[in-house]
Order: sequence, then structure tokens, then C-alpha cells
Amino acid sequence: MDNFKALDEKLAESKLGGGEKRIAAQHAKGKLTARERVDYLLDDGSFEEMGALVKHRSTNFGLDKKIFLGDGVVTGYGTINGRLVYVFSQDFTVLGGSLAEAHAEKICRVMDLAVKNGAPLIGINDSGGARIQEGVVSLGGYADIFYKNVQASGVIPQISAIMGPCAGGAVYSPALTDFIFMVEGSSYMFVTGPNVVKTVTHELVSSEDLGGASAHSTKSGVTHFTHENEIETLNGIKNILSYLPQNCEDKVPQKAYEGSNEKRKKLDGIIPDNPNQPYDIKEVIDELIDSGSFMEVHKDYAENIVIGLARLGGKSIGIVANQPAYLAGVLDIKGSNKAARFVRFCDAFNIPLLVLEDVPGFLPGTDQEWNGIISNGAKLLYAFCEATVPRITVITRKAYGGAYDVMNSKHIGADMNYAWPTAEIAVMGAKGAAEIIFKGEIKAAADPDAKWKEKEQEYADLFANPYNAAARGYVDAVIKPHETREKLIKAFKMLENKVVNLPRKKHGNIPL
Ligand code: HXC
Repeated sequence: MDNFKALDEKLAESKLGGGEKRIAAQHAKGKLTARERVDYLLDDGSFEEMGALVKHRSTNFGLDKKIFLGDGVVTGYGTINGRLVYVFSQDFTVLGGSLAEAHAEKICRVMDLAVKNGAPLIGINDSGGARIQEGVVSLGGYADIFYKNVQASGVIPQISAIMGPCAGGAVYSPALTDFIFMVEGSSYMFVTGPNVVKTVTHELVSSEDLGGASAHSTKSGVTHFTHENEIETLNGIKNILSYLPQNCEDKVPQKAYEGSNEKRKKLDGIIPDNPNQPYDIKEVIDELIDSGSFMEVHKDYAENIVIGLARLGGKSIGIVANQPAYLAGVLDIKGSNKAARFVRFCDAFNIPLLVLEDVPGFLPGTDQEWNGIISNGAKLLYAFCEATVPRITVITRKAYGGAYDVMNSKHIGADMNYAWPTAEIAVMGAKGAAEIIFKGEIKAAADPDAKWKEKEQEYADLFANPYNAAARGYVDAVIKPHETREKLIKAFKMLENKVVNLPRKKHGNIPL
């Protein structure tokens, strides 16, 4: 029928985006098209497109002769592993994926639906930023999206994939979402590109060095995940969704799991005899959780603290763990920021928190003080204090000083606190403590070094153990490492229906 033919032709035109030549150019760069990405991400045949026939309305600078159905972004909904998601995917083949009025309206429409219907939003970004020809309506379009990102924050999980350039205002929508995924070698994020940088600061820097996946995963911490190629990136998005509830009212997914009462004996041999020797906390994590279920977040950034999602007895948990194998697991500015944001994410989406603690304290020094370790460390403290999800801490070794308080101590609202027999819970390490409190005695001794050692031992005997804290009830139980998994599964089950009523307020004032 003729009217069907006209429709089919229009839909075919829309599907072709910027045309065969530009699609070939996209492929030549090792990139998939906007539609190929959506097709791979969603369950087969589940994608329902919206706005395929939308056009821009601009006539500026010859744009009236450059009309592409869909206006450079593919939007709609579908399922991932059977669960509803909303998605937008920018099409670089159409005017460089640039964003303007109609393009932004399409994105806003799926954002509104995602919030109203309580399902995750996934944005695939591949765009030259604000469409220059359309002027201020492009800026308005971005701001509409930013506003909606913030309204949706904490209501539904929002995930951004960066799969091409992402410049200017385009970086701020991803930055407002919960997780950013970047592709190594073909994605960039920067507020101003290398040319502007050269003009303003006279620095010569490549796009890759300025805002590539490696820069943002190791230096700035802007991206949470990087992957070798687009397929791995899309697999990463599917994987993270498997840990998350659909929205803030939903419970975390429960997967079937056998072996909740296993004893994992390997745990008994991980902590070295010498308390100053490092070990890898990720070995502890792997032994505690359901095998192979750890999805580390911010793997290459602030490695002194490890964060990530995992499953315990089939249920999702968030893990925050000091890493003794990197800077002795000390808390610093970057580490505190990294962990604080994750704690708040987990709390917003009902993901119980497990904290593994082995921390010698906060990192001293002018660099840290002048860059604000006080207010940045306070972010982590704040995040734990306000979290109402089930919260459990296991002190594996050191819990010193202010860091003891901060790392999900009983005093700031943790529900269950365990310590291993190797735990040392004290104001500071025995050596430093002895030097301060026995300064006079050490100085006056015939052999000051021997005296210092003697006093260090005295302090260690008293405090380098978990029993003082246990005697006060600051830890609920001292347990053997191999018992920990079973205890955690039981305790998280016990906390399943936890309810906390907070004082009425508009919102708190986290020290940003
Ligand atoms: C309109 C754009 C565009 C844009 C790219 N194109 N960016 N059209 N507005 N912002 C078009 C190009 O003209 C070109 O069209 C096609 O897309 C492909 O672009 P190329 O430059 O050929 O591709 P490539 O060499 O891969 O370079 C991609 C790029 C570059 C790095 C993204 O195009 C670029 O630098 N674009 C401008 C980036 C930018 O400054 N954006 C504005 C940021 S300001 P033809 O037809 O010639 O092939 C901003 C403010 C928002 O976003 C603030 C909100 C708060």
C-alpha cells in the first residue's frame, strides 16, 4: 500500500542516520553506529524506538538543507536480561552527533519516562557537543538534560557510556550520572579541547593525554570503568545492571547461590605475621564473596581504597576496603572522595555495605592538608554517617586513629562490627604512641632505643589487639577469618528489613 511505502521509506531513511559513507567512516574508526550499540546492548528484538521521525527546526547556516530524520540521537526503551531500561544513543554520523533543540527534547522524553516508570537510564555519548549552528537552543537543551539528570539522581540508576568525543557541555551530563564507562583509544572527555588549552595555557597536549580513558581512569577519576573496545564496554554496562535495583524503592536483585555456609580456609593464611607487611585486600574480598562476583569500580584510581559491587549469598552488596598493598591502605583525599561517592550511591539504591578495614590513618603532609584532607576526609565520614542501608565492618588488621571512626565504626551507625584476631584497634601504631607518651622516660634512659622498644611492646600488648574494643562492645564479635563469609551472610539476612527514621530536613550539607 502506498501509505505503508511512504512510512517504510521514512523509517529506512531514519535508520540510515548520516548515510552509508559516514557509517563506513564510523566503522573505519573502529566504532559501532548508534543503532548497532543499542542493538548489542539490549535483548534481541526488545528495542522500541521513539522519535525516529523527529527533525530539527533550524534554518541557520544552511541547516534547512541538512535534515536527518531522528536528529542525531536514537532513543527508546527495551530490556537487558529481561529488565526494563531506557536508552539514548547519539549518532555521530548526523552532524557529528551534535546536540540541539530537537535532539535534546528526545533525550528529555526518555529521561522523564525512566523516572516515572522507575527504570535505569543508559546514555551512549558520541557527540561534538552543542550544535554550533543552532546557538543558544543547544545550550538550553543541555541545561534541560542536566536538570533532569539531577532530578533523577538517587531515583533511578543513570549510566553513561562515552564512545567518541565528548566536549564542552557534553561532559556534564555524564558527570551527573552514577557511573561513566569509557572506551580506550576512541573516547575523550574534556571541558575544552587541546586547541583551547594551547591558546590559554600554552600547554601542548593530545586529546588522548588530555581527556582519554587512561587520563580519566588514573588521574582525574572522572570515569569509573574503561574497556578495550565498545563491545566490552557494553558488556560492562549489562554486568553492572545485574547488581542494581531498578530504582530507589526496589530491592537489590537476588540470584540463586549454593554454598552460603562454606568455610573458606584460605582466609586464615592471608594476613602476614608481620603487621608491617602488605597483603592484597582483593584476595580477602575474593574469598568472602560468591566466587567471581566482584565488579571493581575505579580500579586504577586511588588504589589505596578498593570499592566495588559483589554478591554475597546471591545478593548484591557494595564493598569498601582499605588496600594495605598500596600506600599501606592510608586514607587520602582521592581515596576519601572515591569511597564517599560510592557509599552514597549504595545507600541511595538500597545496596548493603560491607567495609573491610585495615587502615593506618590519614595521610600526613602539606600536600594533603593544603588540598583539603580535612573536608575531603569528612565526605567519607559524612557518607557513612548518613547511610541507612545495612552496614557491616570487618577489621582485618589496623584500625588506627580517626580512620577507625571513619571506616564504618559502630559509633557512626554500623550495624555489625567484626574483628579478626589480628586486629589492632588503637589511637596510633605502638611505635609512634610510645615515642609520644614515654618521651621523657625514653630520653632519660641509659639506652633510649632499648627503652623505646620496651615501651612500644607495652603499648602493643595493651592495644594491638581487638579485645579492648570487644570489651567495650565496639566490635560485636571477634571471629576467625574462615568463619567470616557465613557470619556475613547471616548478618546481612538479619538486617534485611532494617528501617531507620531520619530527622526531618530538606537535605544535609555534605562538605563538598
Ligand atoms: C555542529 C558539528 C559539531 C558541532 C562536529 N560537527 N561538531 N556540527 N556542531 N558541535 C560536524 C562537523 O562539522 C562535521 O560535519 C561532522 O560533524 C564530523 O565532524 P569532524 O570534525 O569531521 O569529525 P572529527 O574529525 O572526528 O572531529 C570530531 C570533533 C570535532 C573532535 C568532535 O568535530 C570538533 O572539535 N567539534 C567541535 C567541538 C566543540 O567545540 N563543540 C562545542 C562545545 S561547546 P561535516 O558536514 O563537515 O562532515 C559546548 C557548550 C555546551 O558544548 C555548554 C553547555 C553547558
